[in-house]
Amino acid sequence: MRGATQGVLVVVTAVFGFCALAARAQPMPDKVGDELSALAAATRPRAGLHLVVLTHRPLFGNAAGKDAIGTLLPGAEVVVLATSGKRLRVRLDGWQQDAGARAVYARRGLRILSLALTPEAAQQVRPGVGVPDPATGTVWRAVRVTGWLDPGGLVGAADRLSRVMTELNGEACGSCHATRPAGAFTAYQWAGGMSSSRHRNLLDADQMGLLLHWLQMGASDKGF
Ligand code: HEC
Repeated sequence: MRGATQGVLVVVTAVFGFCALAARAQPMPDKVGDELSALAAATRPRAGLHLVVLTHRPLFGNAAGKDAIGTLLPGAEVVVLATSGKRLRVRLDGWQQDAGARAVYARRGLRILSLALTPEAAQQVRPGVGVPDPATGTVWRAVRVTGWLDPGGLVGAADRLSRVMTELNGEACGSCHATRPAGAFTAYQWAGGMSSSRHRNLLDADQMGLLLHWLQMGASDKGF
């Protein structure tokens, strides 16, 4: 495994000089941005619908006003509870490692970040009973967070969003090394690889986050 990875690294590094130029000359895939906007525009929120958040955005503590209880990350999934009023009332089901922690993850056993709570809100969340990961012993607890979201920028059609992400992965990620399908790496490897300096400025922070979340949800490890 290590040998193979080093082999890939040598090849990737050898072609990097050429590819860096090519990649820099490419415009950001606006087409993807347009497709995401179209999917969001076609989404009609209703109670019970699962929606994916496309950008970093505040999860509000009430139906009006500016008080946020946290920031949802691109790719996070919420379920609509009610649509009356200007904001949508939504629920996010996730996982935490420690009671009082600010990070809420999408899968038990995997650090796929969905929501960063404010320190105050983190103190108020009541996580369920801890379940130890049989592989690592790390304890995970289910959490349920409710709040309000401004409408817009939300996509209900998971299959179509997945198609756009496959396209983005192909367009933005195949010029220096081969495009890798989501299952090529673990969730942790995706986060680590994409945070390296080579990947800075390839995409804007929202599209990069959305792609990372999607790749991690399809990663080779599935949590427990
Ligand atoms: C500008 C060239 C370039 C582009 C474009 C690029 N990468 Fe990379 N990537 C690299 C290089 C070089 C490495 C080797 C490690 C390093 O130096 O960061 C790498 C390594 C990785 C790794 C770590 C695993 C490995 O094989 O070493 C992941 C994961 C990764 N890239 C994902 C992506 C994704 C996702 C995209 C699209 C958003 C992308 N890359 C686009 C240059 C690029």
